[in-house]
Amino acid sequence: MKAAIITEYGRTDVLHVADIEMPTLAEDQILVQVKAASINPRDWLLMRGLYPFRSLAKPFPITLGSDMSGTIVKVGASVTGLKQGDDVFGMQPIGGKFGAFAEYISIKATAVALKPAEISHKQAAAMPCAGMTSFQAIRDLAKLKPEQTILINGASGGVGSYAIQFAKAVKAKVVAVCGPTNAALCLDLGADETINYKEENFENQQDTFDVVYDVIGRSSLSKSRAALKKGGCYISTIPAPMVAASVALSKLTALNPLGKRLKGHMILVKPDGRDLASMADMMKKGTVRSLIDSDYALENISEAFEKSQSWRTRGKLLITMPTSSL
Ligand SMILES: NC(=O)c1ccc[n+]([C@@H]2O[C@H](COP(=O)([O-])OP(=O)(O)OC[C@H]3O[C@@H](n4cnc5c(N)ncnc54)[C@H](OP(=O)(O)O)[C@@H]3O)[C@@H](O)[C@H]2O)c1
Repeated sequence: MKAAIITEYGRTDVLHVADIEMPTLAEDQILVQVKAASINPRDWLLMRGLYPFRSLAKPFPITLGSDMSGTIVKVGASVTGLKQGDDVFGMQPIGGKFGAFAEYISIKATAVALKPAEISHKQAAAMPCAGMTSFQAIRDLAKLKPEQTILINGASGGVGSYAIQFAKAVKAKVVAVCGPTNAALCLDLGADETINYKEENFENQQDTFDVVYDVIGRSSLSKSRAALKKGGCYISTIPAPMVAASVALSKLTALNPLGKRLKGHMILVKPDGRDLASMADMMKKGTVRSLIDSDYALENISEAFEKSQSWRTRGKLLITMPTSSL
């Protein structure tokens, strides 16, 4: 089968489309013919040897890609509830598993959900990692409520574009931080207000936000302190030691009755078929959509990687497979 692989760490020139062996199938996995896949920064962080969990990735050659949508061609011996011919979408967990930029992937059955017929493979493939990160951050960490205000820093990218929509689904007020060319897009996704980060620093506001969701990781709990209301929370998507340390410290300072009692969190998305199914249901009802920046054939994946590394993506970048009929 064809797959986008790396045989060493480096810039985009180490990424090649090659013919490789079909993946093996464990008893708790399904073998999926991939129709569409989508890029996340973790793909090129691994390519460049910068991915924090790179030691868990299997030895070279590594097939990149974690998010996909496609059709089951085989199910493992212990899999129940899924069968050959079902359309599914899902993601590999944060850690060492990748493999979605290929014509076939073997993936744990619990890390996928059935793709509703009303949703295209492209719409579904865009959502798993970026969508579920925001879905779980907003529901489980922010515990966002209708009367609350959330600031989303990095609102026009993959994670941020879903965050706007999930926060609006809760009926919270959404303030989207984005560049000047992306304000209209964020408002169109449902944001109530935008802040142009090139002209205004949200960190200078006072007691304004219940939640600062720092998707792009350019702020911090301490820098967001003034802008957060008493009892508010800061969530980072960046699994870095400094973030983990500030999150741990916030557990202590939150106990100080005279302080602002702010909570810090670091989201680490967990693949969950039930959450994927809930998001697909919202997509079916029109509450959420995938914002697709552009769509590349597998053979042109290097161009997509260059675009992603520019940090200028609006929504998601898609990869479609040579054998897919979408
Ligand atoms: N921990 C986890 O479980 C987890 C899961 C998924 C993703 N992540 C991480 O989350 C981060 C975001 O991922 P993503 O897929 O959303 O990335 P992305 O789609 O590539 O983000 C691109 C967006 O970032 C915006 N941006 C760039 N610089 C900015 C700045 N200084 N201030 C505000 N916005 C800025 C850009 O808008 P402009 O062009 O307007 O600047 C662009 O729309 C990555 O670091 C990724 O690794 C973590």
